[in-house]
This record gives sequence, structure tokens and C-alpha cells, in this order.
Amino acid sequence: MQLSDIKKIAVIGAGTMGSGIAQACAAAGFQVTMRDIEQRFVDGGFRRIREPLQKRVERGKMAQAEVDGILSKIHGVVPLKEAVDGAQLVIEAVFEKMEIKKELYTELDRICPPSVVFASNTSSLSITEMATATKRADRVVGMHFFNPAPVMKLVEVIRGSETADDTVRLIQEVCMKLGKEAVEVKESPGFVVNRLLVPMMNEAFNLLQEGVASPEDIDKAMKLGTNMPMGPFELADYTGLDIGLDVMEVLFRETGDPKFRPSTLLRKYVRAGRLGRKSGRGVYNYTGT
Ligand code: 3HC
Repeated sequence: MQLSDIKKIAVIGAGTMGSGIAQACAAAGFQVTMRDIEQRFVDGGFRRIREPLQKRVERGKMAQAEVDGILSKIHGVVPLKEAVDGAQLVIEAVFEKMEIKKELYTELDRICPPSVVFASNTSSLSITEMATATKRADRVVGMHFFNPAPVMKLVEVIRGSETADDTVRLIQEVCMKLGKEAVEVKESPGFVVNRLLVPMMNEAFNLLQEGVASPEDIDKAMKLGTNMPMGPFELADYTGLDIGLDVMEVLFRETGDPKFRPSTLLRKYVRAGRLGRKSGRGVYNYTGT
């Protein structure tokens, strides 16, 4: 399949990443379906797309017609079959649980023509294992976007054990059309960015637990000392503490290396429901904002 054959992209999952990916695809001119298992999740996806774009309009950074154009290209759906009907590329951004993903891939494989390419936005799970749920392992690939997906320039393109060169090339071309820079990564837990970034965030929780500095000062140190746009706790709250913990669990489980042991404080916060901005409280409190 060529880039020019891709007219419609089905994004499965309308959460933070799914909705951001749908927005990026629509802004690049693709027809998009954004699917989730319940209408309220689809509505939530549209809200996540609409609000920041509306702010851009208010600040004079974007014309209302441009926002309307993006939204008109995204069709929200619940039935999976309707979502993938006529799509040449499926981008999956569902829960980071291998069993859920494999069930989905088995179903997608059953209902999509064999030429359709499946790209997973997983942040750390094995593409090779997901591909075993299909009969098209050569057309299963990782396409790892970063939050916020419409803004962040990078996509890690992950080659599973059986991913074909043509599939990797096609996805790299899609990334280019989305205005993203692709880096090719061989399958490995956490790929490149999360293998480096998430242990740094995890270590910030260890520092906090040891009482080495306050959360504000740890964030300030990293922002002013390394020019990060957000400190590790601001970023953890932004991306979700549960997401970070999931990545650490995968790194630790897959490598057995103690350097990837999840911080007990991070674990405790997640158990307490302190998931970050989305739950109103993470390291910081957002209930008044
Ligand atoms: N859609 C469109 N535009 C958006 C947007 C969205 N959803 N969200 C933000 N923007 C635009 C804003 O309109 C603004 O545009 P402008 O410069 O033309 O006005 C621009 O992006 C910057 O946004 P803001 O002015 O609101 O805020 P900041 O300048 O503080 O930037 C940020 C916000 C881009 C989030 C910045 O703080 C940042 O880069 N943070 C780090 C993000 C990061 O590291 N992400 C990776 C996380 S790890 C990950 O995702 C992997 C996963 O697997 C865990």
C-alpha cells in the first residue's frame, strides 16, 4: 500500500492519546473515525479536541473555519465495524493491557481486509505479541505518539519481530504527512523515550519520598537546570501517574533490572486514586483550577 492509498484512518480509543491522534490525522487532511466503547467516551474525546482548539481561536492563533474543518473530518462512533469500514489504516490507542489489545486485534483482523495496516500507540508493550493475535504480523507496527499528540513532533515507529519493511516505510510516510518526525525503534521495553523519561520521573518520586527536596523545588531544578518545559511531577500529573507506573511495571517485569523498580510513593499515589490532572489530584492538587 502507498501513502496515497490512505484516505481514511480509524482511531480506536478516544482517550487523551486517541483523541489527540484523531485530531492530528484530521488536521493533516485524512478522514478519521474516532471510536470508543461508549458514546460518553467518544463525547469526551471531542471535548478534548474542541477545548484547546477553541482557546487557540480566542487567542487569534487559528480561524474558526480551520477548527470546524478539523472537526468535520472526525466521525465519532461506537460500533467497531462501522469505525473501520473503508479505513486503510487503524491506529489503536486503547488501555495498556495486553489482553484487551489482543482481543481487539483478533476482532480487527476478522473484520478488516488483509491489506489494512494496524498501528499501536502502545507506550511500552510488545508489538510482536499483539501481532500474534492477527494473521497479518507483517502489517502490525508501533506508532507511539507523545502527549499532547497534536503538538509533539515525535513519533516512535516500532518494528516488531515480523513487521515488514514496507509497513515501517508506510508509517514513516504517514508521520511525515502528519507533520511529525519519525524515529525507527526496534522493539524493546519502553522503546527509547519512555525507557529514558519514565525512570527519571520515577526517580523524582524516590527523591520526594526520601525528603531530599519539595515537589516544587524538584520541578524547578529540572526545569531551570535542564530546560525541560515541565518538571518531572508536572509532567507525571499531565500524562497520568497510572500511565507512568504502567511503563515502570513493564520495564521492571521485562528486564528484571532493579534500576526499573517502581517507586513505592508512585505506587501509593496511584492506589489512592491520585492519578494527576485527570483525577483532580496527583503530586499537586488541581481541584481549585
Ligand atoms: N491541540 C492543538 N494545539 C495545542 C494543544 C492541542 N491539544 N495543546 C496545546 N496546543 C498548542 C497551544 O495552543 C500553543 O500554541 P501557540 O504556541 O501557537 O499558542 C502551544 O501548543 C503551547 O501550548 P500552551 O501555550 O498552552 O502551553 P505551553 O507553552 O506551556 O506548552 C506543552 C504546553 C506543549 C504541553 C509543554 O508544556 C510541553 O512540551 N510539555 C512536555 C510534554 C511532554 O514531555 N510530553 C511527552 C510526555 S511522555 C508521553 O507522552 C509518552 C507516553 O507514552 C507516556
